[in-house]
Amino acid sequence: MKIRYGTGLLLGGMLALSNVVMADGDSYSRRGKSADVAPVNNTRYAKECGSCHFAYQPGLLPARSWRKLMGNLADHFGDNAELPQEDAAAIADYLVKNAADRSNHRRSVKISDSLSPGQTPIRISQVPYIVSKHDEIPARLITGNPKVKSLTQCQACHSRAEAGLFSEHEINIPGHGPWEDD
Ligand code: HEC
Ligand code: HEC
Repeated sequence: MKIRYGTGLLLGGMLALSNVVMADGDSYSRRGKSADVAPVNNTRYAKECGSCHFAYQPGLLPARSWRKLMGNLADHFGDNAELPQEDAAAIADYLVKNAADRSNHRRSVKISDSLSPGQTPIRISQVPYIVSKHDEIPARLITGNPKVKSLTQCQACHSRAEAGLFSEHEINIPGHGPWEDD
């Protein structure tokens, strides 16, 4: 009896887990193509950290970077992004647990691998892998583009950024269109 009950719980747990995985992705992952980075699945994070800019996925920076960034929200790139202690702690926990160096998603692995252990960038836009992926885009399409302004506006060019999809085939640069790599 005990064993069967235990098996039931285990199966239930596995089903619940696979449901989470399903809900986590989108039509792409259901077709077998997984996202470049895991999409955001924490409403507190999306609300508190997505009000001024794109809610960057935790898998875009390593855990040590998130710890550093969350350690100084009072001076957040010149803004004050301070949060009540309980919110800050829960968000830091979410970011660290899903960080680039703790994820198997392909871009997270590349981001993590491009950094030496001594490097702790708090800007995604300064991660070597991200820099190298964007170094062929002329400035007039980024800083000189009033609808983009900065490389930090991922969602301005990556039309599926919110779903964690950053493929070069899903890019629409405002005033320019898709990216033709040559
Ligand atoms: C009051 C507005 C505000 C809030 C709230 C806010 N940020 Fe920011 N954040 C900024 C500004 C301004 C920048 C600098 C943007 C730029 O340079 O284009 C920034 C930049 C960043 C960057 C670096 C982007 C890059 O790649 O250069 C990260 C990462 C970031 N924020 C994470 C967070 C997290 C995590 C939270 C929630 C705890 C948060 N932000 C909440 C205003 C905010
Ligand atoms: C000005 C528009 C623009 C902005 C803003 C932008 N990107 Fe990109 N991104 C591109 C283009 C164009 C490419 C393809 C470049 C190439 O292949 O030469 C690219 C490539 C990438 C790639 C590699 C995709 C591949 O298929 O190899 C990743 C990952 C990525 N961007 C993530 C980000 C993130 C994260 C941000 C925000 C911090 C961001 N991008 C902001 C335009 C942009």
